Amino acid sequence: MIGVFDSGFGGLTVLNSLFEALPAYDYLFLADSARAPYGARSPDVINDFTLESVEWLFEQGCTTVILACNTSSARALRNIQQLHLPRHRPHHRVLGVVRPSVEALIGLPPGTIPGETPPSSASGTVAVLATESTVTSDSYGIELRKLAPSLTLIQQACPLWVPLVEAGELSGPGAEFFLQRALTPVLERPEPPQRILLGCTHFPLLLPALRRLIPPGIEILDQGALVATRFADWLARHPEHESKLTRHGSRRFATTDDPAWFAARGERMLGHAFTAERARLRP
Ligand code: SIN
Repeated sequence: MIGVFDSGFGGLTVLNSLFEALPAYDYLFLADSARAPYGARSPDVINDFTLESVEWLFEQGCTTVILACNTSSARALRNIQQLHLPRHRPHHRVLGVVRPSVEALIGLPPGTIPGETPPSSASGTVAVLATESTVTSDSYGIELRKLAPSLTLIQQACPLWVPLVEAGELSGPGAEFFLQRALTPVLERPEPPQRILLGCTHFPLLLPALRRLIPPGIEILDQGALVATRFADWLARHPEHESKLTRHGSRRFATTDDPAWFAARGERMLGHAFTAERARLRP
């Protein structure tokens, strides 16, 4: 079973793309909605919450887990991959969204192997819009400097965008005021970006409003689609992990908050009704 984790319901946008690209697999989605959003929390807390969530997914039978949450990918992935898995779960895998997103920002095709791919000579400017914690972690900057050192990266924290989405304020003058406030320093640079990545699971919900504010010549990257494409490629290159994944097309949804509340809010993102269960994580 493939586990997909997000701090809240925004990760359902990534899940939807995975369903489209890889429909045959069994999926278990977990949202830590009771403790979301993660974006303004301290690195230690994000790490602990993410690890508890990943362990719950493993206990339910997932063998590969995708951290759809950018904040968790930025703050907890390295620790889980380098310390937790080798000691406690050597046959399991946890993947994040930062690396595939950076590859797409640079324009690298899926299947580039870390350490084996020579740095790209791409130049110009690209931007990532994300939570405060993702930006201060510099995870996007670290990956980008390895893969395309000549490319300039603008990392813009948009701390008020997650609360806007959580409140259902997706358009209108109030929402657009706060969108514009974070976009202005990005768009008014002497060299504005050629591509913008929405580096937070909540932000795709703001896309209609963002398209009105971002000039049409700037490409806006859909993280769900690119993560799904690159995960499909990863599976093809890792038969030892792909062969452990069951394929009955089953889809389970879990949340640490009230399941009915979560399902009612998540329906809008998934495009259809679903039933969720309560996950009780072990600290
Ligand atoms: C959050 O939990 O603050 C947003 C999720 C993300 O960073 O993708």
